[in-house]
Amino acid sequence: MDLGIHGKRALVFGGSRGMGRACAQQLSQEGVQVTIAARTLATLEQAAAEISAVTGNPVQVVVADIATEAGRDAALQACPAPDILINNADGPEPGDFREWRVADWHAAIDAMMLGPIEMIRRTVDGMIERKFGRIVNIVSRSVKTPQLELGLSNGARSGLVGFVAGLARQTVRHNVTINNLLPGVFATDAQRRHIRGMLESTGKSFEQLWEERGSNTPAGRYGQPEELGALCAYMCSAHTGYMTGQSILIDGGGYPGTF
Ligand SMILES: NC(=O)c1ccc[n+]([C@@H]2O[C@H](COP(=O)([O-])OP(=O)(O)OC[C@H]3O[C@@H](n4cnc5c(N)ncnc54)[C@H](OP(=O)(O)O)[C@@H]3O)[C@@H](O)[C@H]2O)c1
Repeated sequence: MDLGIHGKRALVFGGSRGMGRACAQQLSQEGVQVTIAARTLATLEQAAAEISAVTGNPVQVVVADIATEAGRDAALQACPAPDILINNADGPEPGDFREWRVADWHAAIDAMMLGPIEMIRRTVDGMIERKFGRIVNIVSRSVKTPQLELGLSNGARSGLVGFVAGLARQTVRHNVTINNLLPGVFATDAQRRHIRGMLESTGKSFEQLWEERGSNTPAGRYGQPEELGALCAYMCSAHTGYMTGQSILIDGGGYPGTF
């Protein structure tokens, strides 16, 4: 299927590793002019070179932290008028809410809610003028099935999803859609960090937890970043203009409900 987005411009946060990188590669494969943003230049440059080697298309990099205004400024200087925006960053550490202070909540909200909302605010009107826009937030299954050890994620990400539910209905008549992807367990650095954060509270080894989390899904395995990258590229395609405000699980069947 031709996704119909050849020549569009995409700004992909968290595009140097994991699922963000897979989204960037799939978009580049479709002939999209991709800019990847993250906080570390070395991994950005490596990812850009590797993606370009596969797709044959140049990939621009920008050092930019989505959680800060300076970072968002830098990203928009590099890619001033994106047609496609992928909001994505780190998730929080697992923990007990009794130990979190207001500063911890502010950091979580900056990265997982306000950073993405600010990026939407600064790009959506240009998309509306150009009559094409695709905004995809990489969120988490935690907004549908709360993860007990991930209270910061359950809370902050629900704020983003709740906000865009209203906005998405106002932009869609201009062919600008806003949707959320909700990954379950994926084999990435973030998953490894998450498991390391659970070693103490569970008393289990890394290997044991890694094995359990993958095999406990109905699919019996971890998701691969490329699987989410392909879904993301489709959500950014010319074919999804009638689909907005949706939160789409990609979790190997982990969500237990019928609807
Ligand atoms: N993996 C899973 O199983 C899973 C499940 C549910 C939800 N999620 C969520 O999905 C998102 C992506 O996960 P992943 O597994 O792909 O993570 P990952 O492999 O750790 O990659 C994270 C990417 O985001 C960048 N990044 C982190 N913080 C950033 C910031 N403040 N501003 C800009 N870029 C930033 C990282 O580069 P730098 O560090 O250099 O900035 C890297 O490119 C995360 O929010 C994660 O919590 C993951």
